[in-house]
Amino acid sequence: SVTAPDILSPEFESDPYRAYRSMRQESPLLWHEATKSYVVSRYEDVERVFKDKAGEFTTENYDWQIEPVHGRTILQLSGREHAVRRALVAPAFRGSDLRDKFLPVIERNSRELIDRFRHTGSVDLVADYATRFPVNVIADMLGLDKSDYERFHGWYTAVIAFLGNLSGDQDVARAGERTRVEFAEYMLPIIRARRENPGDDLLSTLCTAEVDGVRMSDEDVKAFCSLLLAAGGETTDKAIAGIFANLLTHPEQLEAVRADRSLISRAFAETLRFTPPVHMIMRQSASDVELSGGTVPAGSTVTCLIGSANRDEERYRDPDTFDIFREDLSATNAFSAAADHLAFALGRHFCVGALLARSEVEIGVGQLLDAMPDLRLADGFDPVEHGVFTRGPQSLPVRFTPVSG
Ligand code: HEM
Repeated sequence: SVTAPDILSPEFESDPYRAYRSMRQESPLLWHEATKSYVVSRYEDVERVFKDKAGEFTTENYDWQIEPVHGRTILQLSGREHAVRRALVAPAFRGSDLRDKFLPVIERNSRELIDRFRHTGSVDLVADYATRFPVNVIADMLGLDKSDYERFHGWYTAVIAFLGNLSGDQDVARAGERTRVEFAEYMLPIIRARRENPGDDLLSTLCTAEVDGVRMSDEDVKAFCSLLLAAGGETTDKAIAGIFANLLTHPEQLEAVRADRSLISRAFAETLRFTPPVHMIMRQSASDVELSGGTVPAGSTVTCLIGSANRDEERYRDPDTFDIFREDLSATNAFSAAADHLAFALGRHFCVGALLARSEVEIGVGQLLDAMPDLRLADGFDPVEHGVFTRGPQSLPVRFTPVSG
């Protein structure tokens, strides 16, 4: 008989990959009592749940997971309502909006952070760069006042603490709910002002977008902006920390990327496969569903283990090796519906910000490599990632010889 690995235990957190392997091999469909969910660990099953060709799954679980902190967002929507919302927001994250409006925002915000430490010779890439950069980018894209970035960052911290609050700490829960109120008090007047007087920023685009005669309400726009803190902030934050942790612990691959910057996109794709920022995503079954290992009854919560699917030996050769040159993963095609890893999910809710995230990583990593030519790990690096639903290195102290100019 199989002892169910407890996905909420400290042993699991320190090395989930070992438990993932035994789940894939021995118990691909596992009941987990604490989360009252069926845990799914094989690539083919996680892919099937995300693609949901037969309409067997909903995202009703987000009503209790994220509604208390974000309100009703695109993630909770389904069917036509979701399709319209997607059509309203998606164009802002690709094509000419991304290229002409937001690439300069990304470049500027990365540069500003690097300028604060480039002359010092040492930095914690997590605290001083990764946790700041994507949040600043979102605030700047929305056209918020620079003097508000610190408050914005405070809400970001409270939101991700709320979403990762597995022990149910009451203070963290209350702080998250307070954030929802404060965020609304801050955003709603700005949203009304942009409706009256639209500018060139993302917030104005969201306020004025129209599809089939439908527009987003003030509350819809506010909830979407709130979602961006977690969906666009924490994920990209952990991806940047992850790419550096992986490259610094594989110095020959770091040197290859330094010599050929076009390899950053491969390093990004392999980081998302090997150490995805989001490890678990839940769905709700609308009917009985057959998966490897048995039947999930209608009305169940299903926990999809992205971190396990991405290391499935049936799908990847030598899955526990970080290799930016692997042939079973293509960087160029990582954003199509046929993505080579599951870090952005698949199907209807496939990450809207995937291209933006890739641009942030390509620009940010390129600028950091330029500013830190002999980048190396400093003492105190803890290679163990932290977190269960989302994971990443807690800190990343590095040293380098400062370059002038
Ligand atoms: C959806 C991961 C960056 C905005 C998702 C989902 C995943 C994901 C796994 C699917 C959630 C589900 O199906 O339940 C990531 C990762 C990122 C990243 C790993 C960075 C490496 C971003 C960025 C933005 C963003 C930069 C925007 C600024 C969104 C939104 C959705 C989403 C709005 C919901 C889409 C929908 O419901 O239709 N992301 N994301 N993400 N992501 Fe990302």
